Amino acid sequence: MSAIAAIVAGSLRNVPDFPSPGILFKDIGPLIADPVAFAAVIEHWRARHTGRLEVIVGIDARGFIFGAALAHALGTGFVPVRKAGKLPGPTIERSYDLEYGSATLAIQVGAISAGQRAFVVDDVLATGGTAEAACRLVEEVGAEVAGIGIVLELAGLGGRPRLAEWDLETLATA
Ligand code: PRP
Ligand code: MG
Repeated sequence: MSAIAAIVAGSLRNVPDFPSPGILFKDIGPLIADPVAFAAVIEHWRARHTGRLEVIVGIDARGFIFGAALAHALGTGFVPVRKAGKLPGPTIERSYDLEYGSATLAIQVGAISAGQRAFVVDDVLATGGTAEAACRLVEEVGAEVAGIGIVLELAGLGGRPRLAEWDLETLATA
């Protein structure tokens, strides 16, 4: 296991039956409350991507925490992809399937310039529906998905193959 994977794995909290019975929730709370662990995550991506990126895209809601910190560290701007209905327009939206029902994400038109190299950040990868929708929105506004950075990958739920067309890096696997 890499040093960063050990830091991430060692600072997550498993919460049974949250938010509903049968779900083992991976809580990133202890990771971001620990200044050493939080800084290690941001420094890992900063070191890999310095000079390569023009904008960081963070996915609502926990992707904002890592994405905004990374944008600051890299000296880039930060653009949120939000749950529908939160951003003033004009926006474009994209819906994706959840286990039960669907959800919709939105990005503001004009927030990213066409051709900009974007790095898409989130906390957890499960089925990949959220990250895929965010990446498609980035591409719909004409930008390039230069990579995807996700702190924790839940293996076996189909997320990685779903994102196969992009350069995906996850820091730890559970
Ligand atoms: C969680 C997590 C990821 C997403 C991963 O977010 O933070 O964004 O699910 O799932 P997927 O790979 O199956 O799409 P959630 O939608 O629960 O919302 P939140 O970040 O606002 O808490
Ligand atoms: Mg989320």
